Amino acid sequence: MKNILAEIKQKASALNKTVVLPEGEDKRVVLAAVETVKQGIAKIVLLGNENDVKALNGGNELTGVTVIDPVTYEKTNEYAEMLFKIREGKINKKTGMPEYATVEDAKASILKDYTMYGALMLKAGDVDGMVSGACHSTANTLRPGLQVIKTAPGEKMVSAYFLMIAPEYGNKYCEDGCYIYADCGLNQNPNSEELAYIALSSAKSAKQIAGIEPRIAFISHSSKGSAKHADVTKVSEAVKLFKEIAPEFNADGELQFDAAIVPEIGQSKAPGSTVAGHANVLVFPDLDAGNSNYKNTERLGGFMAVGPICQGLAKPINDLSRGCSADDIVAVVAITALQAE
Ligand SMILES: CC(C)(COP(=O)(O)OP(=O)(O)OC[C@H]1O[C@@H](n2cnc3c(N)ncnc32)[C@H](O)[C@@H]1OP(=O)(O)O)[C@@H](O)C(=O)NCCC(=O)NCCS
Repeated sequence: MKNILAEIKQKASALNKTVVLPEGEDKRVVLAAVETVKQGIAKIVLLGNENDVKALNGGNELTGVTVIDPVTYEKTNEYAEMLFKIREGKINKKTGMPEYATVEDAKASILKDYTMYGALMLKAGDVDGMVSGACHSTANTLRPGLQVIKTAPGEKMVSAYFLMIAPEYGNKYCEDGCYIYADCGLNQNPNSEELAYIALSSAKSAKQIAGIEPRIAFISHSSKGSAKHADVTKVSEAVKLFKEIAPEFNADGELQFDAAIVPEIGQSKAPGSTVAGHANVLVFPDLDAGNSNYKNTERLGGFMAVGPICQGLAKPINDLSRGCSADDIVAVVAITALQAE
């Protein structure tokens, strides 16, 4: 079976991209920065105080890693002005007040929130991607990207997928060595149109990141009309829309999970379908289903879950699970570098 992560790292190395890691206060992030550079996967900018970062690396220099301290960096004022301009007129939902009343406000805020600082570096073109979330929530990691980097031209929305990598001993249903599961991290309850666009982004990610030809299943508790409910109609409508907006991709649904990945069940529940029983991109009806299924496949199926990986942003930003290891961070950095291609 092909080693998907090794292929991703190899492709990333050839691109020589720069990725910012804003959480220089986290030891795993510091170790991942050193390891990424050592493996030649990407250039790294780490945000934090140089002495503090060095202390987390056992007092050793971080050879090849650029450490930037936002408190003293020459471009901090420029980034604050940029944030102020981009968010001018926006009201903070919690306080009902402007998000940033002045440039000084914006500056004070980015000096407290290095994830936003990193997003501004990305916006300015000073780095090619950002990975954060080892010690911040998903919402706090993704919000700066949504507010500052925004949706890519031609994309309808941002969504998040997991690259589910089969265990080394293989999995009898997983024909390509991995699945793409979406949306597992961002959109709570997408409607039919949003589901269709999540599927489109996921199909593109399957090709660009996993290097597989997508066979997309829209997952439901019904297969081809076996159950009748508004939730089922939402999914079957999404399939229709998807076929209109992306006829070049092979997709089918609505399908139950087993009908999507088990060949005999696919054949019996959706006879003649070239996706049923062989799907490698699974689009779930809502975040409850997506999130629970990725954790299920990870824990009970022994798959490695890499993500959540954001798709549809104008420039790549990716989140980490707070339980991540330094190796997980290196893997997400490699994917981020590939997305910046
Ligand atoms: C990411 C998230 C925090 C955004 O929530 P929020 O800050 O309340 O979002 P808002 O609705 O205020 O939107 C903030 C901005 O992001 C944009 N946005 C929100 N969702 C978006 C999406 N899916 N695609 C593109 N843009 C989006 C909004 O348009 C808005 O832009 P603006 O401020 O320039 O007008 C929210 O979607 C969320 O919490 N998702 C679930 C994350 C989670 O808990 N995952 C757990 C499993 S890992």
